[in-house]
Amino acid sequence: MTKRYAIILAAGQGTRMKSKLYKVLHPILGRPMIQHVIGNLKSLQLNKQITIVGFGADKVMDEVGDQSEFVVQEEQLGTAHAVQQAESLLKDQQGTTIVVCGDTPLITTETFEKLFAYHEERNAKATILTTEVQDPTGYGRVIRNEHKEVERIVEHKDANDKELLVNEVNTGTYCFDNQTLFAALQEVSNDNAQGEYYLPDVIEILQKRADKVEAFLTTDSDETAGINDRVALANAEETMKRRINASHMRNGVTLMDPSNTYIGPDVTIEPDVIIYPGSIISGQTTIKSDSVIGPHTEITDCTIGELTVVKQSVVKDSEIGNRVTIGPFAHIRPESLIGNDVKVGNFVEVKKSTFGNKSKASHLSYIGDAKLGENVNVGCGTITVNYDGKNKHLTTIEDDAFIGCNSNLVAPVTIEKGAYVAAGSTITKDVPEEALSIARARQTNKEGYAAKIKNRK
Ligand code: UD1
Ligand code: CA
Repeated sequence: MTKRYAIILAAGQGTRMKSKLYKVLHPILGRPMIQHVIGNLKSLQLNKQITIVGFGADKVMDEVGDQSEFVVQEEQLGTAHAVQQAESLLKDQQGTTIVVCGDTPLITTETFEKLFAYHEERNAKATILTTEVQDPTGYGRVIRNEHKEVERIVEHKDANDKELLVNEVNTGTYCFDNQTLFAALQEVSNDNAQGEYYLPDVIEILQKRADKVEAFLTTDSDETAGINDRVALANAEETMKRRINASHMRNGVTLMDPSNTYIGPDVTIEPDVIIYPGSIISGQTTIKSDSVIGPHTEITDCTIGELTVVKQSVVKDSEIGNRVTIGPFAHIRPESLIGNDVKVGNFVEVKKSTFGNKSKASHLSYIGDAKLGENVNVGCGTITVNYDGKNKHLTTIEDDAFIGCNSNLVAPVTIEKGAYVAAGSTITKDVPEEALSIARARQTNKEGYAAKIKNRK
């Protein structure tokens, strides 16, 4: 089988983004653009993958990690110059090289596959992935001769009036015979409107040498959009969202309003989950079957069990069991472990805490750095006092304990198995098993005292 290599161009600053962040690091549905590109190339079984970095090289290399080799393009003299940086790593290899821009994150693996196949079947020296768009502004135009063969690509800024009318554009993705590519790059000049070395010029060079040049036209122009500014970024987000949401719906997930549902690329959702509008589900999240999420819920890096309901809530970096109800208006903060059949209700904040099966905190509570056993009832307004201004301390509430409303549990403290805490208590010492603890001032009633107050001058 022909060997396959990839070169990803990611050295540009992305001036048109007007951003401190380098272009290829801008996220789409929470994942940096460059990661989408690399992810889409992944299953092609490439023999070598080289990313050309320049602006923000350290940050881009950090992001990509060991998924690619890197070459630094010290000065950004154009896309041909960028590809040339890979010369020492690739030039002598036999095989096909795909060149992909770091700013076309929507091109799918299937399209890359088709491009490779088209190129290899025809024994071409170069095959350009092209598409037809309504508004070709900014793109290189594909100029064909009278036999409809691709002759060259002319950049927008170099095009004459007639060429500007051409709707077939260069997507910035190409397959090349590897050795032919590096030989042709030697001949590219920077004699053009931008004074850059254009990679598309290789096409004309090969065509003049009577090398076989092909174009593979894809009909999905949303897929090939280059992200040069924030408008294109928002469009890409929309396209990606539609694509991801459609695949979940096809897998049996109900999205009540897909255009208002935001699901990240690494999220797994089982069939018969229902998601209401305004929900943002991101990171490494899994939602198991028959759960109901939203409306207006944010879930990041969580596992949500079966038959669980999460309404108008924020849940982060936590594990939630089966048949749990969360919200409305609850906040589950990182490192929380919520068992099965648990209820975390209105205005309850949970942080780095464990809830055993069947435990409940139904209203207005703060549960932080706490370990709750099974079947614990946390009354309305209970607060674990976990912070002394310097350190965080643990509250332990054992199985079957009952915490009365408006209690403060001053950590470190343990409420043992089956114990009761009376409402309004401030607990500073451990409560033994099966005991009742009352820690509040005793009530005194002064009969008839109201009149005395009212008659005061
Ligand atoms: C490029 C193509 C254009 C095509 C369009 C598709 C050229 C000259 N033009 O234009 O025909 O229609 O993509 O989206 O190739 N880069 C480097 N080093 C450089 C310059 C660029 O690594 O010196 C990288 C950029 O980071 C980017 C990619 O190459 O990821 C494309 O560069 P960009 O400036 O966005 O090219 P376009 O003007 O969009
Ligand atoms: Ca671009």
